[in-house]
Amino acid sequence: MILKIVKYPEPVLQQPGEPVTEFNAELRKLVADMFETTYASQGIGLAAPQVGVSKRLTVIDLSQGKDPVQRLVLINPEVIFSEGKQYEEEGCLSFPDIREKVVRAAKVRIRAQDETGKWFEMDGEELLSRAFQHEIDHLDGILFIFRMSALKRSLNLRKIRKMQSEGTW
Ligand code: NI
Repeated sequence: MILKIVKYPEPVLQQPGEPVTEFNAELRKLVADMFETTYASQGIGLAAPQVGVSKRLTVIDLSQGKDPVQRLVLINPEVIFSEGKQYEEEGCLSFPDIREKVVRAAKVRIRAQDETGKWFEMDGEELLSRAFQHEIDHLDGILFIFRMSALKRSLNLRKIRKMQSEGTW
């Protein structure tokens, strides 16, 4: 089932998600729906708060559904190590048509639970590192506009307000 993606400034996007404690059929259904929603939107990642669910859960698939090995489910994830810097363009399904360069760590190691509750660690570089950081930020209520420079943030907020007033947001 394709879920509705909420857009900025929906309050659920700006509050920390609750830890996931039940690894049941309902959780697996939410994960499947989140992948379906990501693919339908041509995204590479989606966090539960973006579909109005304030929980620490995110899905990532850099292959956009083409390679099953790249389907990642991160439950209660955290960054446990980060190194270096990268400065590349980023987008977010809760900010349609907004793309901006954002500073992120070049490499990160994350720790997370899978759909069965089993803990694992994983390293990411380049785009995967960026996706880990962007999606884990969502679980803390941090949006990518708050990772931009103050100038870029105000320019993008102005662009959003213009789209809102034109009814295109
Ligand atoms: Ni996002």
